[in-house]
Amino acid sequence: MRAVAVPDMTDLRPGEVGVDLPGGYDAGLYFIGRIRTPWARREDCPRRGAPDGPVCRLEIDPRWAQALEGVSDAPRLQVLYWMDRARRDLVLQSPKRDGATRGTFSIRSPVRPNPIASSVVELVGVEGLVVSVRGLDCVDGTPLLDLKPEYCAFAPEVP
Ligand SMILES: C[S@@+](CC[C@H](N)C(=O)[O-])C[C@H]1O[C@@H](n2cnc3c(N)ncnc32)[C@H](O)[C@@H]1O
Repeated sequence: MRAVAVPDMTDLRPGEVGVDLPGGYDAGLYFIGRIRTPWARREDCPRRGAPDGPVCRLEIDPRWAQALEGVSDAPRLQVLYWMDRARRDLVLQSPKRDGATRGTFSIRSPVRPNPIASSVVELVGVEGLVVSVRGLDCVDGTPLLDLKPEYCAFAPEVP
């Protein structure tokens, strides 16, 4: 099993607390593709995707081509993705936008033990192995974990 990277405890904001990560992982994941967005850096991304945001492309690995059957029937999709640039050890975080310290499980920060992000997006279209959507907020090249049809309306803003 791959070793877990040692986080940098000197790179903390006031109030933030990190913990030692477990020595190994409990499960494995398959990246099913990559997300292409206009944003090269984390600081360029919106904090939360919007239904009128730019069109982003979900590029699906050819292995999973048949799993796209029927995807175009859903007007909205739930997209799960892997925030590969986020540290994973913080239990208390002080996000830059207001500096208030909060527990990791009370906010939608990408910094979490398992940096899984989710967004409800508007489907623009499916062409071959590319699913075009609006409503994402991640860096170009972010690994894609899963797609599911979404039947609820956009949720109200939450922290
Ligand atoms: C607050 S998170 C919200 C993600 C998702 N909508 C959710 O609620 O689970 C979005 C932020 O994560 C950061 N981010 C984007 N792509 C990332 C990546 N690949 N790795 C780490 N952080 C990323 C950016 O700062 C972006 O504004």
